[in-house]
Amino acid sequence: MGRLTLPSTLLILSAGLALAAPPKSPPAAPATAPVSGPAKAVGLVDALPAEVRTLLKPRMGRHIRDLKALRGKVQAADWADVWHRAKAIADEPRIARPVEGATDTLNAALPAEFYEHQDALSAEATALAAAAKAQDVEAAEQAFDRLSITCVKCHGHFGAPPHKD
Ligand code: HEC
Repeated sequence: MGRLTLPSTLLILSAGLALAAPPKSPPAAPATAPVSGPAKAVGLVDALPAEVRTLLKPRMGRHIRDLKALRGKVQAADWADVWHRAKAIADEPRIARPVEGATDTLNAALPAEFYEHQDALSAEATALAAAAKAQDVEAAEQAFDRLSITCVKCHGHFGAPPHKD
């Protein structure tokens, strides 16, 4: 575990600030990777700083739970639930892109593609929420498919275990 606790990490992330810690608490040394430059996309699981992994794990747990539920909820036209779950994914605080020129932050250690996949996830979840609000079955099914594909794409890119189902 790094020195940043998860709640404080989340606060920093949701405030849109880089993970570079405020002056009174210096950034924790990454357990698995140097943060002195952008990481090559060789497999984020290897390159991922422990703090980021700690942050992603519970989030991914929620994602898989929501994604599994969403499939049935779309089919059952349970629009309130679809909207709620899709919004939860869409509005999840994102890991902030590194501030320009920064090379010594945890954020800068993540490759650009990570941020692109992260944005795509939010965009597709937003589309699904909109389809639920409009009670549009076809649009919801398409948005659900695209949402699932963003999960798979990011995992495929960074070597995270592909989720089952
Ligand atoms: C921006 C990239 C990205 C996106 C988008 C993404 N994931 Fe992940 N996911 C990861 C990474 C990286 C890991 C590996 C984290 C680690 O090292 O524990 C992971 C791990 C997981 C795990 C395993 C968690 C564990 O406890 O080991 C599950 C399940 C998962 N993701 C589900 C999903 C689902 C479902 C979606 C789409 C709704 C999704 N992910 C979207 C990057 C992503």
